[in-house]
Amino acid sequence: MDKMVVVGGKTLNGEVRTSGAKNSALKVLFSTILAEGTHQFQNVPDLKDIQSTSELLASLGIHCERNGQDFLVHSGSLKSMEASYDLVRKMRASILCLGPMLAKYGEAVVSLPGGCAIGSRPIDLHIEGMKALGAEIELKEGYVRAKAKKLRGTTFLFENITVGGTENVMMAATLAEGTTILENVAKEPEIIDLAEYLNKMGAKISGHGTAVMKIEGVEKLKPASHSVMPDRIEAGTLLIAGAITGGEVTVMDCVPHHIESLIFKLKEAGFKISTTASSVTVQPLKQWDAVDITTSPYPQFPTDLQAQFMSLMTVANGTSVISETVFENRFMHVQELMRLGADITPKSRVAVVRGNPNGLTGAPVMATDLRASACLVLAGLVAKGETTINRIYHLDRGYEKMEIKLGKLGASISRKS
Ligand code: EPZ
Repeated sequence: MDKMVVVGGKTLNGEVRTSGAKNSALKVLFSTILAEGTHQFQNVPDLKDIQSTSELLASLGIHCERNGQDFLVHSGSLKSMEASYDLVRKMRASILCLGPMLAKYGEAVVSLPGGCAIGSRPIDLHIEGMKALGAEIELKEGYVRAKAKKLRGTTFLFENITVGGTENVMMAATLAEGTTILENVAKEPEIIDLAEYLNKMGAKISGHGTAVMKIEGVEKLKPASHSVMPDRIEAGTLLIAGAITGGEVTVMDCVPHHIESLIFKLKEAGFKISTTASSVTVQPLKQWDAVDITTSPYPQFPTDLQAQFMSLMTVANGTSVISETVFENRFMHVQELMRLGADITPKSRVAVVRGNPNGLTGAPVMATDLRASACLVLAGLVAKGETTINRIYHLDRGYEKMEIKLGKLGASISRKS
């Protein structure tokens, strides 16, 4: 199993490119179930989760291939309507094949994803949404078994904001008979990206990016071409990498507007940040102030940057209160940061971080999930001596060539098998 070894103390400087967004690419790949033919994508990141999605699609009879800059998906009539436990347990986002299969083929059998390191993560709202569209759903032997002769447009109010639930029900509604109104939907940029691809395929979606979406069902969708949006969480992680080492780093090919909540908090901590339409730069700063954050659905501070921001706060001046409102168990990185010398008191969904600008020292640590891995890499960049991060496969699920990108900026980081 690969490990990452980081020797702290190097100041990062220079420019770094953002890759395509994992959490958008996965969804547009699942949306190809809705239309037979060849779909053409650009900016699909080379990640473990993309491989897992390709494997799942292959098990259904859909073939994916990389061809230079393009990522082609050859969608045809499905040979199987079942997403098996073995494939779904590798990646929870696999549940996103439910809506497209049900809408296009009138049936779907998808394994329940099971537990997760960051919270219980139920899929009840996906199921309620499908039921509202007229599907009959049974949960049996660990699988969701869904059937519908024809989905019918409806008005559905999500009880809580859910990114995956919004995407699943939105995809299902594209081929429903009549109009669907979805209320209290998530407004994440990845949802807008998916809606834009669905519209390119011929869907009639409006209101994406607001709390209420309207989807006028159409009879058929056809394949199209699309460039996946830049990964806002990777961009934010790289920006924090520059900040935590006191360097000047420009993150290129991103949409600064997508990480406004992070930029706002970095400025509050004392950093000078400048932006262009597609880049964001953090200026060198020796010491910064502790600031509080509360994670919430977009456009508020993203849960997917909470762990990385916590690393920055462990070496800030003062005490920061970090509140996690999206997932109930997303502080697994706290104990690992404490192994590096961080002074943190976690209590349920709140962590009190007492910053110490010289407080971290290298140690072996364990990555527990994707963003926790990134937070440990960031902490390793400023910890004195060597930090070895075990279970780095979590990082490979969602960050493309992270050690190469950070290495080019001047970090001492290497992968060991
Ligand atoms: C997406 O997960 C992302 N994953 C997550 O990124 C991200 O943290 C999350 O949205 C929130 O922004 C992908 O896009 C693949 P949710 P998702 O449904 O869709 C509860 C990463 O690191 N809920 O918005 O699964 C749920 O338990 C990952 O890249 C229900 O109660 O998140 C959670 O508390 C991790 N019932 C909250 O809603 C449901 O039916 C938000 O979950 C669905 C969700």
